Amino acid sequence: MKGVILAGGSGTRLHPMTLPVSKQLLPVGDKPMIYYPLAVLMLAGVRDILLISTPHDVPHFRRLLGDGSQLGIAIGYAVQERPAGIAEALVIGAEHIGAGPVALVLGDNIFHGAELQRVLRENARDVQGCVLFGYRVPDPERHGVAEVDERGRLVSLEEKPAVPRANRAVTGLYFYDGEVVDIAKNVRPSARGELEITDVNRVYMERGRARVVDLGRGFAWLDTGTPESLLQAGLYVRMLEERQGLKVACIEEVALRMGFIDGDACYRLGAAMGNSQYGRYVMDLTEGSLR
Ligand code: TTP
Repeated sequence: MKGVILAGGSGTRLHPMTLPVSKQLLPVGDKPMIYYPLAVLMLAGVRDILLISTPHDVPHFRRLLGDGSQLGIAIGYAVQERPAGIAEALVIGAEHIGAGPVALVLGDNIFHGAELQRVLRENARDVQGCVLFGYRVPDPERHGVAEVDERGRLVSLEEKPAVPRANRAVTGLYFYDGEVVDIAKNVRPSARGELEITDVNRVYMERGRARVVDLGRGFAWLDTGTPESLLQAGLYVRMLEERQGLKVACIEEVALRMGFIDGDACYRLGAAMGNSQYGRYVMDLTEGSLR
């Protein structure tokens, strides 16, 4: 399965922080936000990823992540000229995606949970139609809201409804089969001039081919869109990491545990950042380190 990370947008709710730099490069805890969705794709077993961002920010992401080979994966880059909708990522990424399945993740979505890898891998296997991931929220009117039948099939989808029919938000992680590029190309821009991901998902729903996997108890889906939620996400990550002595979304660790890189390569990645606590953690993951 191919992967696409959409990390553009304007981040206006985070001004002035996002005037010089993209939201997805801001820190959440001790690492850039983009590490979290990147780790999610890697945990799903995805190794061929296209990162899409603004013309201004693509060079920054490239400097941070390179071609991905240090992590045993491939990362390519593409530009979204202006924030013309999440579904535009599927059009921009058409060539990268080809005719196979793809996992699309938004660069500002943070997922955490002990069962995350299992859920991701199970659902990444043999994707038929589309798989959305639902999360119960107290404020569904601020989200895309999904209603499902007893078998988990999507039966209604509304974008920021005034009167929500359910309290299940659609999160920013989507698995699609090989039809998605054609579907996205045929979606008409909304009144705002955007290609809405909800419209793509609705096509699958109308064909009876959209499934929702609820991330229930034991999962966290964190918002990072406002200064308050960004700070809270950072504190959540820090608290978990301090308690457990394990990092969340340490991409070098994920690469090591997934078998994408060996211990020596991991150690070298850590050593290159050895002056930081993050770097020392990465070095300590391998037996090559001195304790
Ligand atoms: P939004 O929350 O809609 O927008 P935003 O994050 O840019 O911020 P704000 O509301 O503060 O202005 O976007 C959700 C995510 O999708 C976010 O990571 C940005 C990304 N995105 C794009 O990269 N391109 C787009 O065209 C859109 C609509 C969103």
